[in-house]
Amino acid sequence: MMNSESAPTPTPTTRRRFLSRAITTIHTAIVGVIGIIAGGAVTSPVLERAKENWLPAGRVSDLPENDPLAVTLRIVREDGYTVTVDRRTVFLVRTGASVVTALDSTCTHLGCRVSWDTSAQVLRCPCHGGTYDRTGKVMSGPPPAPLTTLVARIEGDQVLVQI
Ligand code: FES
Repeated sequence: MMNSESAPTPTPTTRRRFLSRAITTIHTAIVGVIGIIAGGAVTSPVLERAKENWLPAGRVSDLPENDPLAVTLRIVREDGYTVTVDRRTVFLVRTGASVVTALDSTCTHLGCRVSWDTSAQVLRCPCHGGTYDRTGKVMSGPPPAPLTTLVARIEGDQVLVQI
């Protein structure tokens, strides 16, 4: 016995419409994925730059008053699959019970690393004899500008330096 009421067979128009919708959906998905990737590539560096990076530099109670203390900060930077570790020497200068300044140790003349000369009470550059006072101000020699002051804050007994 044959069934006279069989299901209608798909017409070419229905198949064409289905394929058209499928292709449109695939295109939309591809454009969406590309948009997400491109958006991330554009916004990620901006967000990374905006992110504050505070590194613990030492304890306030360990800092001698008015004698800059050199500390080395370990800076970890992640860029995709690459991780680099930089080291940066800064001087922590405590000038009060809870007043700490952080100075970059890089001489502003040609980039040598300065060190604290306790007897002369100056930060001295070994390369061309430039000297700075404990606030980073140029005292003598060729440096054209004071040492860079980094943003620092105190949390409890901890000195944090912004990199
Ligand atoms: Fe420091 Fe020249 S590099 S005085």
